[in-house]
Amino acid sequence: MLTPFSNFSGKRVLVTGDTGFKGSWLCFWLRELQADVVGYALPPKTDEDLFNLLRLEKIIHHIAGDIRDLEGLQLVFDEFQPEYLFHLAAQSLVRLSYKEPKLTFDTNVGGSVNVLEAVRATESLRSVIFVTSDKCYRNKEWIWGYRENDELGGHDPYSSSKAAAELVLSAYQDSFFNNRKKLGVASVRAGNILGGGDWAEDRLVPDIIKSLRQGTPIILRNPGATRPWQHVLDPLFGYLLLASRLTTSPQSFTGPFNFGPSGESIRTVHDLAGRMVQCWGGGNICVEQASDAPRESGLLHLNCDKARRLLHWTPKWDFDRTIVETVSWYKQVESGESAIALTKQQIKKYMGNYHD
Ligand SMILES: NC(=O)c1ccc[n+]([C@@H]2O[C@H](COP(=O)([O-])OP(=O)(O)OC[C@H]3O[C@@H](n4cnc5c(N)ncnc54)[C@H](O)[C@@H]3O)[C@@H](O)[C@H]2O)c1
Repeated sequence: MLTPFSNFSGKRVLVTGDTGFKGSWLCFWLRELQADVVGYALPPKTDEDLFNLLRLEKIIHHIAGDIRDLEGLQLVFDEFQPEYLFHLAAQSLVRLSYKEPKLTFDTNVGGSVNVLEAVRATESLRSVIFVTSDKCYRNKEWIWGYRENDELGGHDPYSSSKAAAELVLSAYQDSFFNNRKKLGVASVRAGNILGGGDWAEDRLVPDIIKSLRQGTPIILRNPGATRPWQHVLDPLFGYLLLASRLTTSPQSFTGPFNFGPSGESIRTVHDLAGRMVQCWGGGNICVEQASDAPRESGLLHLNCDKARRLLHWTPKWDFDRTIVETVSWYKQVESGESAIALTKQQIKKYMGNYHD
């Protein structure tokens, strides 16, 4: 019997943002599932980027390109004729979005329009996973988890760009995709994702790891902020399950899906840093409240009943496991272990005895 995961063997899968943190984990996993993968993104930034550590250039076909360039993007769709698309390419950093709002909107909204234009012109597609963020919801600073039908919005340019991308997708769905009976399209909303190999600037976990490696104090500017932390494999597992279901029952699975951690993973920034220090085996935390820091939202967490009910998806790794696996990945790579072997092992451990 075909499981959702055996579905990918030999399938043509296009991933935008393959040089990024999540895109690299996803492409590696897709290759483990024997998919034929093409990636489209800006080039990796440093030798240490996960894309380079995993030597993805050798196992997928990577095309360096910009999603703001519709012609270049369309060529890739035309040549490859993908069956699956995972759209991850984005300006993904909230802080950078304050400095570069136009770049953020051009990439996350304009670039996503281009991706949807290419989808519109590509009949081979059966399944589209359109990655936005938990930040696409208008944050009402309330205690309840956001549901897929809650109001969209965003105070900062990044969050707003992701909400806008959701609205664009919804218009393309209603105007162009509803009558393509063999195409399923879902937007996926997750956030605060951790895992080995994230080196993004101005993101909490990479910053903590950089301090731990250099032996410098970990500076926390917002130690009491509470976030729902999750390991990268949890949402990616959800994306893969959903992508597969979209091919078998496009009508039932088209629409937005939340993929967030369970309530016990909602912890403060200080809890996260403290546990990371313990796992690393040493390190100092220093709290510095900055008066000029950009506005940070309060708690925003997701209600994932839809994914649980329709996909039987639940997060597998709790807060502690997430930190242990993340820190051990960085620590072992630091001591010379192969990132490829570690990533492979973590995916294997994560999948455990998974049966459809
Ligand atoms: N990491 C998180 O915690 C998190 C949380 C919620 C949502 N997301 C979303 O998940 C997706 C992947 O996130 P990530 O953490 O891997 O981000 P990342 O910053 O590590 O990677 C971004 C990827 O997008 C590509 N990209 C950026 N601008 C581009 C352009 N103009 N043209 C082509 N490619 C371009 C980059 O080259 C890179 O491959 C993004 O859409 C992000 O908004 C991430």
